[in-house]
Amino acid sequence: FYICRVSAQFHSIPKRPSFGIAFDIDGVILRGRTPIGDSPKALRRLYDDSGCLKIPYLFLTNGGGIPESRRASELSQLLGVNIDPIQVVQGHSPFKNLLKRFENELIVATGKGEPAVVMSEYGFKKAISLDEYASYFDNIDPLLPYKKWTTKQPCHEQKNSIESVPNFDVTSERVKAAFVVSDPVDWSRDIQVLCDILRSGGLPGEKSEHQPHMYFAADDLEYQAVFPCERLGMGAFRIALESIFNRIHHKPLEYTSFGKPNPFVFKNAESILNQLLNEDHKHKTSENFQTLYMIGDNPEVDIKGARQAGHPWFSILTRTGVFRGKKNHTDYPADQVVDTVEEAVEYILQREG
Ligand code: G3P
Ligand code: MG
Repeated sequence: FYICRVSAQFHSIPKRPSFGIAFDIDGVILRGRTPIGDSPKALRRLYDDSGCLKIPYLFLTNGGGIPESRRASELSQLLGVNIDPIQVVQGHSPFKNLLKRFENELIVATGKGEPAVVMSEYGFKKAISLDEYASYFDNIDPLLPYKKWTTKQPCHEQKNSIESVPNFDVTSERVKAAFVVSDPVDWSRDIQVLCDILRSGGLPGEKSEHQPHMYFAADDLEYQAVFPCERLGMGAFRIALESIFNRIHHKPLEYTSFGKPNPFVFKNAESILNQLLNEDHKHKTSENFQTLYMIGDNPEVDIKGARQAGHPWFSILTRTGVFRGKKNHTDYPADQVVDTVEEAVEYILQREG
């Protein structure tokens, strides 16, 4: 089964591969915006000479902050292969499954990039970024005058979201849910305003017993960015928010975290890899993969997740990110440990014959 992209379409030849691959991004494929571990070369091996995809693969990242379509173009550019948006699963991708519940409700979204654009593109009609939301409440952040940076989003966000012209009164409507879409930029402001929203029933300054829903795209304590050692991730932000909220409020914070290592992320990846084998990407096939490879750098997230997901997942741990050990990880040992993603792909192709 070969998948060939012609005019942004996949065309199939009947010889279905019995395996697929899920690549983690940060610490495996990229560090910041720089490809690592010979990732462009590794990915090229999954295509034939005419640029047709031979092996179904996708990116399974806990990162995010921009819509999947934009991430796919960015990745295509950085890695030199043609990546379809369906091949990009970000931490916040499952938020679209909450559309029925909050489609017409006021929701706030925070994190680096364009969190409100992400939510608007999923179909949420009243998504507003926490930056914009906070700006409607005078003095809500007493530290604002001391912050030297600007909170203005790039014009792309302003053009594409409802934010430029809210057609409702932000200061009198209750927020029904708060979404941490990507790593928060201004922790102190976000913790302050989220606590305000969460303990007031969705309207800062009011009183209510009902806590609005709180969703996190992922729960990574640390991840590999450009700096030589790990950086604090969304899980660290969640701990900070939760600890403070639980000290100032009589009821503990109720929340849901998405992303790896949750088993549903791996189920969803399997179903997308199956869809990739169909020309129109829509219907599922009844056949199952014999092996699905998860290549990751974070034992507690990528390897734990693949292990929990069970058959047909097979985990490969690289040494280009969070994990730098000589042998295997003690608590979450991978099925195979390699130095780089290039080595991981070489191992898979040899194993699959
Ligand atoms: O912020 C990104 C980080 O949480 C992890 O990304 O690609 O390693 O799952 P990734
Ligand atoms: Mg990673």
